[in-house]
Amino acid sequence: MSASEIYSPGLEGVIAGETAISTVTEGLRYRGYPVTELAEHCGFEEVAFLLLHGELPTARQLTEFRKRVAVARRLPEPLRDLLRALPRWTPAMDALRSSVSVLAHFDQDTPDSSRDADLRKAERLLAQIPVAVADRHRFSKGLQPVPARDDLSHAANFLYMLTGKEPDAAATRALDVSLILYAEHEFNASTFTARVVASTESDLHSAVVAAIGALKGRLHGGANEQVMALLEAAGDPEHAEAWVRAALARKERVMGFGHRIYKSGDVRAGILKEYARKAAEAAGLLQWEETAAVFERILAEEKHLYPNLDWPAGRLYHALGLETSLYTPIFVTARVAGWAAHVIEQAAHNRLIRPRGRYVGPERRSARPLAERG
Ligand SMILES: CC(C)(COP(=O)(O)OP(=O)(O)OC[C@H]1O[C@@H](n2cnc3c(N)ncnc32)[C@H](O)[C@@H]1OP(=O)(O)O)[C@@H](O)C(=O)NCCC(=O)NCCS
Repeated sequence: MSASEIYSPGLEGVIAGETAISTVTEGLRYRGYPVTELAEHCGFEEVAFLLLHGELPTARQLTEFRKRVAVARRLPEPLRDLLRALPRWTPAMDALRSSVSVLAHFDQDTPDSSRDADLRKAERLLAQIPVAVADRHRFSKGLQPVPARDDLSHAANFLYMLTGKEPDAAATRALDVSLILYAEHEFNASTFTARVVASTESDLHSAVVAAIGALKGRLHGGANEQVMALLEAAGDPEHAEAWVRAALARKERVMGFGHRIYKSGDVRAGILKEYARKAAEAAGLLQWEETAAVFERILAEEKHLYPNLDWPAGRLYHALGLETSLYTPIFVTARVAGWAAHVIEQAAHNRLIRPRGRYVGPERRSARPLAERG
């Protein structure tokens, strides 16, 4: 088959590789488990273990996994120095991308791409990334980092490292569920990026650095940082309808709506919506839920577009009191589990990913020496 016969802009509908990590074909499942059940019965650490190791952990495996992650929750001093020294205006995602790159220099397993070494590095990144996000956040405010606590869950620790206060159970569980839902999503743009890097026999840290770069764009993970700005621009529920209709008339994209695969709704958005609402209620911010409902009604009516996971996530994180610049980094703290699982899978059955481009440039022409070009 010639390349032109299988051209699909944006690779839409193209099966670009095999994976046993997750599927979106009959509802989202991670390693066979519906994400609805994982969000109901598990914590993020169990799901991260599932993605990396293939099975849900036993109680003992979970304890050992948690211990390994706890030990790794430390940053090399030169990275802390860098996070302190970066300009205050450096976007959090850019600081995180640089952090993972620096972490590669201090990980003795970096050049070893065996499965065991990749699993060790993946567990360390899972531990280090939230610390890098929290430390950088505090440095950018002129505050000292708050060391992680070994007795707290991954989600609780993240909130604790940001604020220095132990979060309540509802906030912890809401963040935990969002991490589960963000942890993995088949061949999305950032995961595919990670697999492309892995396919060249590069290393895990390089794949994660590249994936962070892909995730930060507003058509992908960056969308969750746009949600509150949209809601605030639209204002209270009475005025929101006119604002949304005008935005659609201007052909603006409403971030947090639409999806390349889910054309009639994203199950993850439905799960997280309940948590966003409860958190908004607790924070006295229910007006944004009402404004959000106006968006949902009009986007469905006018464009047959439905919320994706970023839509409730942006509201949830706002209701938890988190600053907007943290939202996409939070996505990274979860998705790194999926990225690493895909890097390991790609390496195990590798074939260099190298598609073709359809040429639309000039016809053949002759190159003349500079002196003859005038
Ligand atoms: C995610 C996204 C890039 C998927 O897009 P896609 O599969 O490439 O679909 P397209 O961009 O071709 O969109 C199809 C049509 O729907 C419109 N559309 C898609 N998402 C839209 C949105 N969020 N707001 C307004 N219109 C949207 C497009 O403008 C296009 O309309 P047209 O045919 O009149 O030109 C897209 O829905 C989007 O930009 N969403 C907002 C960003 C976002 O939330 N990203 C997170 C995804 S999990």
